Amino acid sequence: MVPLRMPPDWNSPIPAWSSTFADAVEQVSLCIIRSGQDWSSTEGLQRREYLERMEPVLEAGMAFLRDRGQEVNCHAGRYMREIGRDGAGTDRSLGPAYFRTMADLEGWAETHPTHLAIFKTFLGIAPKYGANLQLRPWHEVSLLPAGNQFGEHANCAAGTGLLGGLASG
Ligand code: HEM
Repeated sequence: MVPLRMPPDWNSPIPAWSSTFADAVEQVSLCIIRSGQDWSSTEGLQRREYLERMEPVLEAGMAFLRDRGQEVNCHAGRYMREIGRDGAGTDRSLGPAYFRTMADLEGWAETHPTHLAIFKTFLGIAPKYGANLQLRPWHEVSLLPAGNQFGEHANCAAGTGLLGGLASG
């Protein structure tokens, strides 16, 4: 078992990986999405629209995937803010989420109120700017077949993240 260290010490070596976690992950295929948001180039109204209208619905969607993801076959999800080496927050965030299949991911995105709120808010803002939209959102999706992957669960409390989701799924 890897000892839990709080707060994390970024300069220390990564501890040995947990074979328990690797064994669990190797049993299943995964559909992984990283939703990225870069608002570092936004100014004025576009910055306010992102921070006051887009960001709250995105946070709510990621909170659903984190707290109730099992309802839509999402094993784990977490809303993350990028930080620099100095530990200060940047104007970029990530929403990684680990779904059972692509159909589960698409089902959540196309029908669930939390992503529909994200989608509709975005479409209520972005089209009027066309090519001048300063927000840079992106989605990156990977399909990992069972047996072609392993994961490391280092410095995390037991039952958190993907290991917790797979254990309860
Ligand atoms: C600010 C954040 C987000 C914005 C602006 C956004 C916006 C959009 C838009 C506009 C589409 C439709 C694209 C098209 O039909 O061409 C879309 C689709 C999609 N989004 Fe998001 N989204 C965000 C966050 C997320 C998150 C956090 C996830 C998953 C964790 C996600 C998963 C998806 C998926 C899977 C689709 C494709 C659905 C399909 O099959 O058509 N999105 N999103």
